[in-house]
Amino acid sequence: MLKKKYIFGNWKLNKNLTDTTKFFSQFYKQLSVVKTIAKNNNLIYGFAPVSTCLSLSTKLKRGKTAIIAQDVSEYAFGSYTGQVSCLQLKDFNIKYAIVGHSETRKYLGCTDLNVNAKSKTCLINKITPIICIGESLAEYNKKQTKQVLAKQLKIILKGIDARKCIIAYEPLWAIGSGKTPTLKEINSVCEFIRKTIKQLSNVNVANNTPILYGGSVNEVNALKIVTLTHVNGLLIGGASLIPNKFVKILKDINTWQKEK
Ligand code: PGA
Repeated sequence: MLKKKYIFGNWKLNKNLTDTTKFFSQFYKQLSVVKTIAKNNNLIYGFAPVSTCLSLSTKLKRGKTAIIAQDVSEYAFGSYTGQVSCLQLKDFNIKYAIVGHSETRKYLGCTDLNVNAKSKTCLINKITPIICIGESLAEYNKKQTKQVLAKQLKIILKGIDARKCIIAYEPLWAIGSGKTPTLKEINSVCEFIRKTIKQLSNVNVANNTPILYGGSVNEVNALKIVTLTHVNGLLIGGASLIPNKFVKILKDINTWQKEK
């Protein structure tokens, strides 16, 4: 089983250059604590700012903070107005990109086939795709979660080595709503995702694919979720906008590990 835990913040359409500078100056006041915690607990942490703040964020970046793109084009270059390619992200040494977030699916028409293409482009360019999957509220209520996820994974992972990706299970109805599935549900769905990856490839690939949970994770519920057996990390929206909330999540993991 994977030892690393991934704690990623998704800033969505928040923060301009001034806010980004403020965030990092506050966050890095605790840099030595964050560094020690990350090292001692095998944590990989980072933030996904808007694309206009990627350049500044990589300049302000200290320690091992990962700077993550919120989306990426499936194309390398050309007539694709409004998009940013892996080649352009590489200018900033970006190592991770979120793909298929439910908000890019909803507002920008991204499909599972696009997610597959985007993930492939990322891998060619040595960028780790953070692939988001999840069911709607109607599907959850009809108990179709596993069916929906299996279908998404089948399309998205076609021709892809899942070990080189990160999967983020984000129920659409949990995002920004303050609601989350029960801990038991999160654990069982993440276990199901791993089983599905095993069916699509093999046990080695499945056991080495990080599976994160996202959707209304905050400084109060984060520890309980991230310590579930089948969860390898968190994708945090709202709570990642406040440096102290994010640091608290890291500190709680540290305390829990020490007391274990
Ligand atoms: P949230 O967002 O934590 O604000 O619910 C999570 C996400 O969309 O990745």
